[in-house]
Amino acid sequence: MADANAQQAEFWNGDAGRQWVADQELLDALLSPLSQQALQAAAVQPHERVIDIGCGCGTTTLDLAARAAHATGVDLSAPMVQRAAERGADRDNVAFVCADASRWQSEVPAQLAFSRFGVMFFDDPVAAFTNIRSNVADDGRLCFICWRAPQDNAWLSLAGAAAAPFLPEAPATEGPNPFAFADTDFVGGMLTAAGFRDPQFALCEATLNLGAGLEDAIGFLTRIGPLSRLIAETEGETRDQALEAVRRALAPAVTSTGVQLGASTWIVTANAS
Ligand SMILES: C[S@@+](CC[C@H](N)C(=O)[O-])C[C@H]1O[C@@H](n2cnc3c(N)ncnc32)[C@H](O)[C@@H]1O
Repeated sequence: MADANAQQAEFWNGDAGRQWVADQELLDALLSPLSQQALQAAAVQPHERVIDIGCGCGTTTLDLAARAAHATGVDLSAPMVQRAAERGADRDNVAFVCADASRWQSEVPAQLAFSRFGVMFFDDPVAAFTNIRSNVADDGRLCFICWRAPQDNAWLSLAGAAAAPFLPEAPATEGPNPFAFADTDFVGGMLTAAGFRDPQFALCEATLNLGAGLEDAIGFLTRIGPLSRLIAETEGETRDQALEAVRRALAPAVTSTGVQLGASTWIVTANAS
C-alpha cells in the first residue's frame, strides 16, 4: 500500500491540523476528563519508555513523560508535531517524530504504546497495529482511548444530526474516522490479528463542556467538529437555517456552567504477549 494513510496525511497536514494547533488549549480542556481516566488506566511506571501514537500537539506525551523514564510522540501532522516539539523543548526525556505510526520503527522497544484518540485513522488497522506491536517489548502493553458510536456521544452527534438535513451528503461512516473503533468485536479481533493478547474494553464516560454559551459551543463545533462541513458545504439561507436548527438542538444543554453534553469512550488495553 504505497499511499497508505495518504488522505489522513493530507487532512491532518492541512486546515484540520492547523485548527487543532490553534484550538489546542480548548481541546485539552474539553478532553481532560477523559484524558485523566486514560492516563490512569495506562498506569505508567517511572522506569518505563512510552510511545504516544497520533500524539497531536503533544499534551498526553508530556503528561506521560512526567510519569515515565521517556516518552516519544509520533504523529503524521507536521504543524501539530511542531507545536508538540515547542512545548517539550525544555524536557530531556521527551521526543517527537513526524511520521506515519503504521510504518515508523522505534530504535528502542517501549513498555507502553498509548494513544488519546489517535489510532482510529489507519487505512489498514491490522498492518498498523502489527507495526505498533513491533515497537513494544514482549512484556509491554497497549492502552488507548477511542470514541464509542456517534449515538452514544451527544456532544458530537446532536449538532451533527441537526445540521444533516441541510447538507448535500451524509458523513462517511466507512474507513478511517473518529468512530471507526466503536465496535469492540472488530477492535478485539483486529488487535489479536496484529499480535496483541487479551484485549479488554473499559467503558469511560464524561460530561464535556463545549463552551461558556451557545455561540461558543457552535463556534467550536464549526471549527473542529461535525459543523465544519456546514461552513464548507452550505452558504446563505441554507447555512442560516442549519445553524438555527443546531441552536435549537443544543439549547437544552446550556447550563450556568456552560454547554454540557455527554461523551462515551472505550479505554482499550491489551498485552504484547
Ligand atoms: C483526533 S487527533 C488526536 C490528537 C492527540 N492525540 C490529542 O488527543 O490531542 C488524531 C491524531 O492522529 C494523527 N494521526 C492520524 N493518522 C496517523 C498515522 N497514520 N500516524 C500517526 N499519526 C496519525 C493525526 O495527525 C492527529 O494528530
